[in-house]
Amino acid sequence: MTAFLRTTQSYRQGARTLPGRYYTSPEILAEEGERIFRRRWVCVGRVETIPEPGDYLLAAIADESIIVLRDQAGRLRAFYNVCRHRGTRLCEAARGRFSETIQCPYHAWTYRLDGQLIGAPHMNEIEAFDKQDHPLHPVSLETWGGFLFVNLAGEPEPFAHAFAPLIGRFARFNLPSLSVVRRIAYDVDANWKLILQNYSECLHCPTIHPELSTKLPYASGANDLVEGPFLGGYMEIKAPNESATMSGRACGLPLGDLPADDRRRAYYYSIFPTMMLSLHPDYAVFYTVWPKSPAESRVVCEWMVHPDSPRSPGYNIQDAEEFWDRTNRQDWHICERSQLGVSSRMYQPGPYSPRESIPAAWDRGYLKALGHPI
Ligand code: FES
Ligand SMILES: [Fe+2]
Repeated sequence: MTAFLRTTQSYRQGARTLPGRYYTSPEILAEEGERIFRRRWVCVGRVETIPEPGDYLLAAIADESIIVLRDQAGRLRAFYNVCRHRGTRLCEAARGRFSETIQCPYHAWTYRLDGQLIGAPHMNEIEAFDKQDHPLHPVSLETWGGFLFVNLAGEPEPFAHAFAPLIGRFARFNLPSLSVVRRIAYDVDANWKLILQNYSECLHCPTIHPELSTKLPYASGANDLVEGPFLGGYMEIKAPNESATMSGRACGLPLGDLPADDRRRAYYYSIFPTMMLSLHPDYAVFYTVWPKSPAESRVVCEWMVHPDSPRSPGYNIQDAEEFWDRTNRQDWHICERSQLGVSSRMYQPGPYSPRESIPAAWDRGYLKALGHPI
Protein backbone atom coordinates (compact mmCIF):
# COMPACT_ATOMS: atom_id res chain seq x y z
CA MET A 1 0.00 0.00 0.00
CA THR A 2 1.01 3.42 -0.03
CA ALA A 3 0.05 6.79 0.57
CA PHE A 4 1.73 9.12 -1.28
CA LEU A 5 1.35 12.55 -0.21
CA ARG A 6 3.27 15.50 -1.14
CA THR A 7 3.47 18.96 0.27
CA THR A 8 6.39 20.63 1.78
CA GLN A 9 4.43 22.53 4.39
CA SER A 10 5.64 20.41 7.27
CA TYR A 11 9.11 19.75 5.94
CA ARG A 12 11.89 20.54 8.36
CA GLN A 13 15.38 21.07 7.11
CA GLY A 14 17.79 18.47 8.33
CA ALA A 15 15.27 15.70 8.95
CA ARG A 16 16.98 12.33 8.84
CA THR A 17 15.86 8.71 9.02
CA LEU A 18 16.06 6.74 12.27
CA PRO A 19 19.29 5.01 13.37
CA GLY A 20 19.57 1.31 12.60
CA ARG A 21 18.97 0.07 16.13
CA TYR A 22 15.36 1.20 15.89
CA TYR A 23 14.83 -1.48 13.27
CA THR A 24 16.91 -4.30 14.69
CA SER A 25 17.15 -4.11 18.46
CA PRO A 26 15.06 -6.37 20.72
CA GLU A 27 15.55 -3.76 23.47
CA ILE A 28 13.90 -1.08 21.33
CA LEU A 29 10.99 -3.43 20.61
CA ALA A 30 10.62 -4.06 24.34
CA GLU A 31 10.69 -0.31 24.98
CA GLU A 32 8.05 0.21 22.30
CA GLY A 33 5.96 -2.39 24.12
CA GLU A 34 6.17 -0.43 27.37
CA ARG A 35 5.96 3.13 26.08
CA ILE A 36 3.77 2.78 23.00
CA PHE A 37 1.80 -0.47 22.79
CA ARG A 38 0.88 -0.57 26.48
CA ARG A 39 -0.04 3.10 26.56
CA ARG A 40 -1.69 4.03 23.28
CA TRP A 41 -5.09 3.20 21.82
CA VAL A 42 -4.43 0.35 19.40
CA CYS A 43 -6.86 -0.61 16.62
CA VAL A 44 -7.74 -4.31 16.84
CA GLY A 45 -10.40 -4.62 14.13
CA ARG A 46 -14.03 -3.88 13.32
CA VAL A 47 -17.06 -3.87 15.58
CA GLU A 48 -18.97 -5.82 12.92
CA THR A 49 -16.60 -8.77 13.40
CA ILE A 50 -18.25 -9.48 16.76
CA PRO A 51 -21.96 -8.77 16.13
CA GLU A 52 -23.60 -11.31 18.46
CA PRO A 53 -23.32 -12.01 22.20
CA GLY A 54 -20.41 -14.39 22.73
CA ASP A 55 -18.53 -13.38 19.57
CA TYR A 56 -14.89 -12.61 20.23
CA LEU A 57 -11.58 -11.88 18.60
CA LEU A 58 -8.06 -12.05 20.01
CA ALA A 59 -5.50 -9.27 19.70
CA ALA A 60 -1.77 -9.66 20.36
CA ILE A 61 -0.32 -6.48 21.83
CA ALA A 62 3.06 -6.12 23.54
CA ASP A 63 3.38 -9.82 24.39
CA GLU A 64 -0.16 -9.88 25.74
CA SER A 65 -3.18 -11.69 24.36
CA ILE A 66 -6.40 -9.69 24.69
CA ILE A 67 -9.91 -11.09 24.32
CA VAL A 68 -12.31 -8.58 22.75
CA LEU A 69 -15.91 -9.78 23.00
CA ARG A 70 -19.56 -8.90 23.06
CA ASP A 71 -21.18 -9.90 26.32
CA GLN A 72 -24.67 -11.30 26.92
CA ALA A 73 -26.08 -7.80 27.28
CA GLY A 74 -24.59 -6.81 23.92
CA ARG A 75 -21.86 -4.69 25.46
CA LEU A 76 -18.36 -4.71 24.00
CA ARG A 77 -15.64 -5.62 26.48
CA ALA A 78 -11.99 -6.58 26.53
CA PHE A 79 -10.03 -8.76 28.96
CA TYR A 80 -6.56 -10.17 29.36
CA ASN A 81 -6.55 -13.76 28.10
CA VAL A 82 -5.30 -14.98 31.49
CA CYS A 83 -7.09 -17.30 33.91
CA ARG A 84 -7.29 -16.01 37.49
CA HIS A 85 -6.47 -19.48 38.84
CA ARG A 86 -3.03 -20.43 37.62
CA GLY A 87 -2.74 -18.00 34.77
CA THR A 88 -3.45 -20.25 31.83
CA ARG A 89 -4.33 -18.66 28.49
CA LEU A 90 -8.07 -19.10 28.21
CA CYS A 91 -8.57 -19.28 24.49
CA GLU A 92 -6.39 -19.83 21.45
CA ALA A 93 -8.49 -19.41 18.30
CA ALA A 94 -8.06 -15.96 16.76
CA ARG A 95 -11.82 -15.55 16.41
CA GLY A 96 -14.85 -17.45 17.55
CA ARG A 97 -17.96 -17.52 19.71
CA PHE A 98 -18.19 -18.38 23.39
CA SER A 99 -21.28 -20.06 24.73
CA GLU A 100 -22.61 -18.05 27.63
CA THR A 101 -19.38 -18.41 29.53
CA ILE A 102 -15.62 -18.68 29.14
CA GLN A 103 -14.23 -21.81 30.70
CA CYS A 104 -10.55 -22.31 31.36
CA PRO A 105 -9.38 -25.56 29.75
CA TYR A 106 -7.11 -26.42 32.69
CA HIS A 107 -9.23 -26.74 35.85
CA ALA A 108 -12.52 -25.40 34.57
CA TRP A 109 -12.73 -22.04 36.28
CA THR A 110 -15.66 -20.44 34.50
CA TYR A 111 -16.33 -16.77 33.80
CA ARG A 112 -19.36 -14.87 32.61
CA LEU A 113 -18.82 -12.77 29.50
CA ASP A 114 -18.73 -9.69 31.70
CA GLY A 115 -15.62 -11.18 33.30
CA GLN A 116 -17.12 -12.32 36.60
CA LEU A 117 -15.93 -15.66 37.93
CA ILE A 118 -18.92 -17.95 38.46
CA GLY A 119 -17.35 -21.41 38.78
CA ALA A 120 -14.18 -22.51 40.58
CA PRO A 121 -14.15 -26.22 41.50
CA HIS A 122 -13.31 -26.96 45.15
CA MET A 123 -12.51 -23.37 45.94
CA ASN A 124 -15.52 -23.23 48.29
CA GLU A 125 -13.38 -25.40 50.58
CA ILE A 126 -10.95 -22.52 50.89
CA GLU A 127 -11.61 -20.15 53.74
CA ALA A 128 -12.52 -16.64 52.72
CA PHE A 129 -12.33 -17.40 49.00
CA ASP A 130 -14.75 -15.11 47.22
CA LYS A 131 -15.37 -15.52 43.50
CA GLN A 132 -16.00 -11.80 43.27
CA ASP A 133 -12.36 -11.17 44.04
CA HIS A 134 -11.21 -12.98 40.88
CA PRO A 135 -12.79 -11.50 37.77
CA LEU A 136 -10.91 -11.45 34.48
CA HIS A 137 -8.60 -8.47 34.25
CA PRO A 138 -10.40 -5.83 32.17
CA VAL A 139 -8.84 -3.81 29.36
CA SER A 140 -10.10 -0.39 28.25
CA LEU A 141 -12.06 -0.53 25.01
CA GLU A 142 -13.51 2.21 22.80
CA THR A 143 -14.95 2.43 19.31
CA TRP A 144 -14.58 5.04 16.62
CA GLY A 145 -15.79 4.83 13.03
CA GLY A 146 -16.83 1.22 13.56
CA PHE A 147 -13.28 0.31 14.61
CA LEU A 148 -12.34 -1.30 17.94
CA PHE A 149 -9.51 0.20 19.97
CA VAL A 150 -8.01 -1.16 23.18
CA ASN A 151 -5.62 0.44 25.61
CA LEU A 152 -3.61 -1.62 28.10
CA ALA A 153 -2.76 1.31 30.37
CA GLY A 154 -4.22 1.25 33.86
CA GLU A 155 -5.35 4.83 33.40
CA PRO A 156 -5.35 5.49 29.67
CA GLU A 157 -5.53 8.89 28.09
CA PRO A 158 -9.27 9.37 27.45
CA PHE A 159 -10.03 8.21 23.92
CA ALA A 160 -11.98 11.36 23.09
CA HIS A 161 -8.91 13.40 23.98
CA ALA A 162 -6.41 11.18 22.20
CA PHE A 163 -8.52 11.00 19.02
CA ALA A 164 -9.85 14.56 19.06
CA PRO A 165 -8.29 15.42 15.65
CA LEU A 166 -10.13 12.51 14.00
CA ILE A 167 -13.51 12.55 15.72
CA GLY A 168 -16.08 13.78 13.21
CA ARG A 169 -13.44 14.26 10.53
CA PHE A 170 -14.65 11.52 8.19
CA ALA A 171 -18.36 11.62 9.02
CA ARG A 172 -19.26 11.95 5.33
CA PHE A 173 -17.71 8.52 4.64
CA ASN A 174 -20.12 6.72 6.98
CA LEU A 175 -17.32 4.64 8.47
CA PRO A 176 -19.41 2.98 11.22
CA SER A 177 -21.82 1.49 8.69
CA LEU A 178 -19.31 0.09 6.20
CA SER A 179 -19.04 -3.67 5.67
CA VAL A 180 -15.79 -5.61 5.47
CA VAL A 181 -15.87 -7.73 2.32
CA ARG A 182 -12.25 -8.84 1.91
CA ARG A 183 -9.40 -9.55 4.29
CA ILE A 184 -5.80 -10.53 3.54
CA ALA A 185 -3.05 -11.05 6.11
CA TYR A 186 0.52 -10.60 4.95
CA ASP A 187 3.67 -11.66 6.77
CA VAL A 188 6.38 -9.14 6.06
CA ASP A 189 10.04 -9.50 7.00
CA ALA A 190 10.41 -5.90 8.05
CA ASN A 191 10.18 -3.81 11.18
CA TRP A 192 6.67 -2.39 11.72
CA LYS A 193 7.91 1.19 11.42
CA LEU A 194 9.20 0.66 7.89
CA ILE A 195 5.64 -0.25 6.90
CA LEU A 196 4.19 2.91 8.43
CA GLN A 197 6.92 5.06 6.87
CA ASN A 198 6.37 3.47 3.49
CA TYR A 199 2.65 4.23 3.68
CA SER A 200 3.44 7.86 4.42
CA GLU A 201 5.01 8.97 1.18
CA CYS A 202 4.57 8.56 -2.54
CA LEU A 203 8.04 9.55 -3.58
CA HIS A 204 8.51 5.84 -4.23
CA CYS A 205 5.36 5.49 -6.33
CA PRO A 206 6.80 6.12 -9.80
CA THR A 207 9.51 3.51 -9.22
CA ILE A 208 7.70 0.91 -7.09
CA HIS A 209 4.14 1.29 -8.42
CA PRO A 210 4.29 2.53 -12.03
CA GLU A 211 0.74 1.36 -12.83
CA LEU A 212 -0.70 2.93 -9.68
CA SER A 213 0.83 6.25 -10.61
CA THR A 214 -1.33 6.40 -13.73
CA LYS A 215 -4.44 6.55 -11.49
CA LEU A 216 -3.02 8.44 -8.51
CA PRO A 217 -0.35 10.90 -9.69
CA TYR A 218 2.21 11.02 -6.93
CA ALA A 219 2.57 14.77 -6.92
CA SER A 220 -1.17 15.46 -6.71
CA GLY A 221 -3.17 16.43 -3.65
CA ALA A 222 -2.01 17.74 -0.30
CA ASN A 223 -1.63 16.70 3.30
CA ASP A 224 -3.97 18.11 5.91
CA LEU A 225 -2.65 16.43 9.05
CA VAL A 226 1.06 17.14 9.08
CA GLU A 227 2.27 16.79 12.68
CA GLY A 228 1.23 14.58 15.57
CA PRO A 229 -0.13 11.05 15.91
CA PHE A 230 -2.39 11.22 12.84
CA LEU A 231 -0.80 12.10 9.52
CA GLY A 232 -1.89 12.24 5.92
CA GLY A 233 -4.07 13.86 3.34
CA TYR A 234 -5.45 13.27 -0.12
CA MET A 235 -4.37 12.51 -3.66
CA GLU A 236 -6.30 13.25 -6.81
CA ILE A 237 -7.76 10.37 -8.77
CA LYS A 238 -6.72 11.13 -12.33
CA ALA A 239 -9.65 11.53 -14.78
CA PRO A 240 -11.20 9.67 -16.47
CA ASN A 241 -10.57 7.16 -13.66
CA GLU A 242 -13.28 7.09 -11.02
CA SER A 243 -11.37 5.21 -8.37
CA ALA A 244 -8.15 3.44 -7.47
CA THR A 245 -9.07 0.14 -9.08
CA MET A 246 -7.46 -2.01 -11.77
CA SER A 247 -10.00 -0.86 -14.36
CA GLY A 248 -10.23 2.69 -13.04
CA ARG A 249 -13.99 2.27 -12.64
CA ALA A 250 -15.84 2.61 -9.36
CA CYS A 251 -16.30 -0.81 -7.78
CA GLY A 252 -19.41 -0.01 -5.76
CA LEU A 253 -21.75 2.63 -4.40
CA PRO A 254 -20.33 5.86 -2.97
CA LEU A 255 -19.46 5.27 0.68
CA GLY A 256 -21.54 8.19 1.83
CA ASP A 257 -22.94 11.51 0.81
CA LEU A 258 -19.72 12.76 -0.71
CA PRO A 259 -19.26 16.25 -2.11
CA ALA A 260 -17.93 16.57 -5.66
CA ASP A 261 -14.32 17.05 -4.52
CA ASP A 262 -14.31 13.83 -2.54
CA ARG A 263 -15.57 11.88 -5.54
CA ARG A 264 -12.24 12.57 -7.22
CA ARG A 265 -10.00 12.08 -4.21
CA ALA A 266 -8.38 9.30 -2.23
CA TYR A 267 -7.43 9.97 1.40
CA TYR A 268 -4.61 8.22 3.23
CA TYR A 269 -3.91 8.50 6.94
CA SER A 270 -1.64 6.79 9.42
CA ILE A 271 -3.22 6.52 12.86
CA PHE A 272 -0.51 6.06 15.47
CA PRO A 273 0.74 3.58 16.27
CA THR A 274 -0.26 0.81 13.88
CA MET A 275 -3.36 1.66 11.86
CA MET A 276 -3.50 2.95 8.31
CA LEU A 277 -6.74 4.11 6.73
CA SER A 278 -7.31 4.57 2.99
CA LEU A 279 -10.56 6.18 1.84
CA HIS A 280 -11.72 6.13 -1.76
CA PRO A 281 -15.08 7.34 -3.07
CA ASP A 282 -16.43 3.78 -3.42
CA TYR A 283 -14.44 1.69 -0.93
CA ALA A 284 -12.11 1.98 2.03
CA VAL A 285 -9.17 -0.11 3.16
CA PHE A 286 -7.76 -0.30 6.63
CA TYR A 287 -4.56 -1.91 7.75
CA THR A 288 -3.42 -3.01 11.16
CA VAL A 289 0.28 -3.75 11.61
CA TRP A 290 1.32 -6.29 14.24
CA PRO A 291 5.00 -6.34 15.24
CA LYS A 292 6.23 -9.91 15.73
CA SER A 293 9.95 -9.26 16.19
CA PRO A 294 12.29 -6.39 15.33
CA ALA A 295 12.45 -7.63 11.74
CA GLU A 296 9.02 -9.26 11.27
CA SER A 297 5.50 -7.90 11.11
CA ARG A 298 2.08 -9.12 10.17
CA VAL A 299 -0.11 -6.73 8.22
CA VAL A 300 -3.85 -7.35 8.11
CA CYS A 301 -5.58 -5.54 5.27
CA GLU A 302 -9.37 -5.27 5.07
CA TRP A 303 -11.53 -3.81 2.29
CA MET A 304 -14.81 -2.15 3.23
CA VAL A 305 -17.77 -1.01 1.14
CA HIS A 306 -21.17 0.59 1.59
CA PRO A 307 -23.41 -2.10 3.11
CA ASP A 308 -25.68 -2.04 0.03
CA SER A 309 -22.81 -2.25 -2.44
CA PRO A 310 -22.61 -6.06 -2.73
CA ARG A 311 -26.18 -6.13 -4.05
CA SER A 312 -25.82 -3.14 -6.37
CA PRO A 313 -25.28 -3.24 -10.16
CA GLY A 314 -21.65 -3.03 -11.18
CA TYR A 315 -20.31 -4.16 -7.81
CA ASN A 316 -16.79 -5.50 -8.32
CA ILE A 317 -14.66 -5.44 -5.18
CA GLN A 318 -12.17 -7.71 -6.93
CA ASP A 319 -11.15 -4.66 -8.95
CA ALA A 320 -10.11 -2.80 -5.78
CA GLU A 321 -8.76 -5.86 -4.03
CA GLU A 322 -6.38 -6.68 -6.85
CA PHE A 323 -5.26 -3.06 -7.15
CA TRP A 324 -4.12 -2.93 -3.52
CA ASP A 325 -3.02 -6.53 -3.23
CA ARG A 326 -0.53 -5.91 -6.04
CA THR A 327 0.49 -2.56 -4.60
CA ASN A 328 0.79 -4.01 -1.11
CA ARG A 329 3.08 -6.78 -2.29
CA GLN A 330 5.28 -4.25 -4.08
CA ASP A 331 5.44 -2.24 -0.86
CA TRP A 332 6.15 -5.21 1.40
CA HIS A 333 8.96 -6.30 -0.88
CA ILE A 334 10.66 -2.91 -0.81
CA CYS A 335 10.13 -2.76 2.98
CA GLU A 336 11.90 -6.12 3.26
CA ARG A 337 14.77 -4.76 1.20
CA SER A 338 14.84 -1.69 3.45
CA GLN A 339 15.02 -3.95 6.48
CA LEU A 340 18.03 -5.72 5.02
CA GLY A 341 19.76 -2.44 4.26
CA VAL A 342 19.13 -0.72 7.57
CA SER A 343 20.45 -3.85 9.31
CA SER A 344 23.86 -3.27 7.75
CA ARG A 345 26.66 -1.88 9.91
CA MET A 346 27.23 0.65 7.16
CA TYR A 347 23.73 2.09 7.35
CA GLN A 348 23.53 5.57 8.80
CA PRO A 349 20.53 7.88 9.03
CA GLY A 350 19.96 9.44 5.62
CA PRO A 351 18.36 12.77 4.68
CA TYR A 352 14.63 12.93 4.01
CA SER A 353 13.54 15.00 1.01
CA PRO A 354 10.72 17.56 1.16
CA ARG A 355 8.48 14.90 -0.43
CA GLU A 356 9.06 12.79 2.67
CA SER A 357 7.79 15.34 5.16
CA ILE A 358 5.17 12.92 6.45
CA PRO A 359 7.49 10.00 7.27
CA ALA A 360 9.78 12.56 8.91
CA ALA A 361 6.84 13.81 10.98
CA TRP A 362 5.90 10.20 11.76
CA ASP A 363 9.41 9.57 13.09
CA ARG A 364 9.18 12.68 15.29
CA GLY A 365 5.87 11.50 16.74
CA TYR A 366 7.32 8.05 17.29
CA LEU A 367 10.42 9.33 19.11
CA LYS A 368 8.25 11.60 21.23
CA ALA A 369 5.99 8.67 22.17
CA LEU A 370 9.04 6.63 23.08
CA GLY A 371 10.48 9.49 25.12
CA HIS A 372 13.66 9.59 23.03
CA PRO A 373 15.31 12.81 21.90
CA ILE A 374 14.16 14.03 18.48
S1 FES B 1 -5.45 -22.32 35.36
FE1 FES B 1 -7.43 -21.84 34.71
S2 FES B 1 -8.64 -23.16 35.88
FE2 FES B 1 -6.68 -23.59 36.57
FE1 LIG C 1 3.80 2.12 -1.88
